[in-house]
Amino acid sequence: MESKTQPGIYFAPLQESTDFIYRKAHALHFGGIDKYFSPYLMIQKDGSIKKSHLRDTAPENCSGYSLVPQILAGNSSDFLFLANHLEKMGYPEINWNLGCPYPMVTRKGMGSGLLPQPEKIREILDSSIPKLNCRISVKMRAGLVSTDEIFQVVPVLNDYPLAEVIFHSRIAKQLYSGTPDRDLFAQISGLIRHPLVYNGDLCDVDDFTHAQEKFLTVTNWMIGRGLLKNPFLALEIKGVQLPGKKEKVDLLEHFHEEILTGYTAMLSGQSHLITRMTKFWEYFCFLFPVPHKAFKRVKKSINLSKYEIAVRENFLQLRSEE
Ligand SMILES: Cc1cc2nc3c(=O)[nH]c(=O)nc-3n(C[C@H](O)[C@H](O)[C@H](O)COP(=O)(O)O)c2cc1C
Repeated sequence: MESKTQPGIYFAPLQESTDFIYRKAHALHFGGIDKYFSPYLMIQKDGSIKKSHLRDTAPENCSGYSLVPQILAGNSSDFLFLANHLEKMGYPEINWNLGCPYPMVTRKGMGSGLLPQPEKIREILDSSIPKLNCRISVKMRAGLVSTDEIFQVVPVLNDYPLAEVIFHSRIAKQLYSGTPDRDLFAQISGLIRHPLVYNGDLCDVDDFTHAQEKFLTVTNWMIGRGLLKNPFLALEIKGVQLPGKKEKVDLLEHFHEEILTGYTAMLSGQSHLITRMTKFWEYFCFLFPVPHKAFKRVKKSINLSKYEIAVRENFLQLRSEE
């Protein structure tokens, strides 16, 4: 019998959402993910790596699933410092961020701030890759201000032995507005010599099926917000039989409990905890019958007991939904 190859699904990195607590709970309760990516690590002004970034990629906090840690670096010494640290932690692959669109980052020549400087990208890869044993992959946007930039960057990337290139075909100036430029993605897939991973706006199985029909050579897909809104999405895409309604809600409740327990141990003070959980509910609320109401209920909790009441109410509504 002919066996159909399953698509590879990667969980995209999102600062403040896909941290080690979230990733571990997702892998335990849902799975279906071939690679999780950490939000980026970077070097602080004093030359060290932020404690929270170290914790987020410490191997003892990231067991049980496959993690590719990501780095943000605008010069070869920062690149090597971060990559050496992660290589020492035992990671076989490291992802370089050439996509972060925020001016605080791009103004310093990092993230998509490097896309208008293909020679700088070459210089960094040239002086770093021969000194590393781990594989390097790249996650990039289409440009900082213009899609012309990507056509200068691709020939540079083609000169180096990259593991893969993840491409989100928006320019930085767009942030998340408009739609990814799918024709541009198709053009780049014809020019790049590395395995190309699609990223951008895959929110449900239909979005995925359309993208899969359009990009026949793509085998791996990165999803961020779609998975945060529906943690079952990778399983749905892979056609894994899902449990019934009651078991699904039980799973979601255990998932929430695990995340709350994780943040309770990590954060000091109820207000930090509630802020963090409110961030989680920004996406999680989409699983509930009236998402904005579920979110609002959590957001206005002024202490942990009010938060627990809000959560109980949300799950009651979900359970009573037909
Ligand atoms: C709040 C937020 C934080 C993000 N943080 C990162 C990051 O640390 N590294 C990165 O490469 N991309 C980051 N991204 C981009 C996502 O990884 C992804 O490329 C983007 O959300 C598009 O994919 P999606 O439509 O599937 O969500 C972030 C996006 C958002 C909205």
